[in-house]
Amino acid sequence: MRIAVLCSGGDSPGMNPVLRSVVRTAIDLGSEVYGVRRGFRGLIEGEFEKLSNRSVGGIINRGGTFLLSARDERFKKSEWRERAYINLEKEKIEGLVILGGEGTFKACSLIHREAGIGVIGIPCTIDNDVGGTEYSVGFDTAVFNAVECIDRIRDTASSHERVFLVEVMGKTRGFIALSAGIATGADLILIPEVEFPMERIPEEVSKAKEIGKLHFIAVVAEGYGSCQIIREYLEKEMGNKYGEIRATVLGHIQRGGPPTPFDRIMGMRFGEVAVEALLSGERSGFVAYRKGRFFIEDYELASERREIDRDLLRLWKRLNQ
Ligand code: F6P
Repeated sequence: MRIAVLCSGGDSPGMNPVLRSVVRTAIDLGSEVYGVRRGFRGLIEGEFEKLSNRSVGGIINRGGTFLLSARDERFKKSEWRERAYINLEKEKIEGLVILGGEGTFKACSLIHREAGIGVIGIPCTIDNDVGGTEYSVGFDTAVFNAVECIDRIRDTASSHERVFLVEVMGKTRGFIALSAGIATGADLILIPEVEFPMERIPEEVSKAKEIGKLHFIAVVAEGYGSCQIIREYLEKEMGNKYGEIRATVLGHIQRGGPPTPFDRIMGMRFGEVAVEALLSGERSGFVAYRKGRFFIEDYELASERREIDRDLLRLWKRLNQ
């Protein structure tokens, strides 16, 4: 079978180990593999390159994706998708493996229906918000990166007895904030899944200072709100009463850098499952991971809302006293 692989949407650390696994598993099973550069844009522009085992050498430890990724609005229009399908036909591609998040999977399902070829998706997003799977490749590295940064902020926050607001990524969800918050012993975790009005923050700061905490660190999910806006509000309400207030947006630092061992290993496992599924005749669906096992699930499941871990939240609250 001749298959092609591409990455779409925001990159995530671990995509490279996934690609290494897709290419080498497929070749081991007697298939030919083509990489499509720049995601759906490359599909439209016909940017195919044949990949060998050597093409994916030296990438296991690198963040990002060597194939490059892109968002291309043109793919929403049927005339441009038609152009992509002509390219797939020209290259004699019989199956696709696509790495991305939930938005990407909507396109995967469309390609399968319109082009009539097998399309298997692999959840790769630092947000870990894909429905139906407990894990998306890249999350562990993003949390690791955020924790490393917050630990550094903590040192300086303590030295100056300051109040810090640290904004982390996660789009509309609080998975990164919750994990990074509990791992760093944050004094407050603000996530969109839990109602907590900004007006209650001063009371939390004062409680922390009263029990003798030197600093106060709030980990803020970007989906909860902007840490700059919260800082302005706190400055207005509390002034410097509990120490100076600073805000840091971690931004894309969370998305780069070497994937953690967990993301490398999970990435390679996801990659192998995707190729084996495609080669054994699976036509449409994404690889999902639940309770230590892999499944191929319908794309619709990816848009179901994943619940945050309430038990983790409970534990953080218990230990934050
Ligand atoms: O979906 C991954 C993510 O990093 C989100 O956490 C964040 O909101 C968004 O992408 C940032 O997008 P961009 O890289 O286009 O600025």
